[in-house]
Amino acid sequence: MARKFFIQTFGCQMNVYDGQRIAAMLKTYGFEQTDALSDADIIILNTCAVREKATNKVFSALGRVRRAKKPDALFGIVGCVAREAGSSAFKRIPDLNFVLGPQSYHKLPEILKNPDTKLLNIDLTGLEKFDELPQMEKSPAVAYIPIQEGCNHCCTYCIVPYTRGREVSRPFEDVVRDTIHAAKTGAIEICFLGQNVNGYKYTAPSGKTYRLSDLIQEAAKLSEIQRIRFTSSYPTEMTDDLIEMFKKEPKLLPFLNMPIQSGAPNVLTRMNRPYELNLYIDIVDKLKSARPDIQISSDFIVGFPGETEEAFEQTMAIAKKIKYINSYSFKYSPRPHTAAALMKDQIPESIKAERLAKLDSLLNEIQREFNESCIGKTMLCLCEGPDKTGKHLVYRTPYMQQCIVNNDSTNEQMANIVITDANKASLRGKVVKS
Ligand code: SAH
Ligand code: F3S
Repeated sequence: MARKFFIQTFGCQMNVYDGQRIAAMLKTYGFEQTDALSDADIIILNTCAVREKATNKVFSALGRVRRAKKPDALFGIVGCVAREAGSSAFKRIPDLNFVLGPQSYHKLPEILKNPDTKLLNIDLTGLEKFDELPQMEKSPAVAYIPIQEGCNHCCTYCIVPYTRGREVSRPFEDVVRDTIHAAKTGAIEICFLGQNVNGYKYTAPSGKTYRLSDLIQEAAKLSEIQRIRFTSSYPTEMTDDLIEMFKKEPKLLPFLNMPIQSGAPNVLTRMNRPYELNLYIDIVDKLKSARPDIQISSDFIVGFPGETEEAFEQTMAIAKKIKYINSYSFKYSPRPHTAAALMKDQIPESIKAERLAKLDSLLNEIQREFNESCIGKTMLCLCEGPDKTGKHLVYRTPYMQQCIVNNDSTNEQMANIVITDANKASLRGKVVKS
């Protein structure tokens, strides 16, 4: 009987991608995937450390794994908590077998060869993992393709530069190869991924430098690919060649995640995000001139050290001004290895919670308004599959809204859908028969 592996992924899209590569690798070693912990011979938690809550979740999941697993099953953590905790993870959970950082999970087979040892590798050697892992056999309809790893921005609250390392862009030809492979094996949509995705910059041995705009053009040439997007972008790296793509390339979706984090200049300075608000607004204006129907989403942090009531109101004001859709908002969480964790003027939890509730209710209201403005419009949407009841199909609009459609046999993977109804969370629609 084949040996089995269990993998649970927490956190960002990059982790989802890493999880898929780990699964593909274990399959080449003859393992089958299982959803039952008690069946598994190897158990992997693919972890996120971006906020304290995320790290705590991992350690409580590890408690569950220890109780449910077969006595001789190997278990361990990969990803950002592995990198953050390092060897201290073995002290906390002595029977843990492996701890592998986000750039070294391709070393996992070493534990299969030597199951009686402890395997620790949290090096940030860069791109080796991309070369050593097998390609996925079949691509999902939405293919996430990492183009760069790590981040040089060093926002003072963020643990990512510590856990994923300095920024490295993958060779242009490797990304193009992966994009073609995805297109030939089932992808309809390409999402280029990176912690600082629009900072992508690769200089080939020939001396030619490639940017994200070049990758978008390559992906757009593929007839199988109907939609292209990328995440997550740093505001001041939104270069003119990239903005131009929104004008030139219809396959590029009119939707962009470009986190602002805060609307208060002094908070942005202390976050080490040294851009003027006016510059950010100019970039949004340029994007709108390139693509009048573009919508922007953001990540927000409330309760950053020193954030006054007035500073928080500036965040509310910018959210209203830009009318962000599909945004994420978080309470500031102090993280190890970050400068903001050492700042003296930390904000009490109760104030953070109050501000988050206020911001969330504003963001929900803006989202509801946008969703309602879509009623009557026809949008080309991508099918994600049936809902839990099986009576409906769930589609994604070009703005990543969820759109629910009755499940009748004529429905296609890509379909023009006329929006008939909307609330703050989702849309309803009907497939337009051609
Ligand atoms: N550019 C990256 C961002 C990684 S972190 C990417 O998307 O790949 C994702 C989001 O988490 C950030 O944009 C920020 O809003 C939030 N975040 C990061 N560190 C945080 C912290 N210490 N507390 C609260 N939120 C945080
Ligand atoms: Fe983190 Fe700021 Fe980079 S949020 S991933 S350090 S752009």
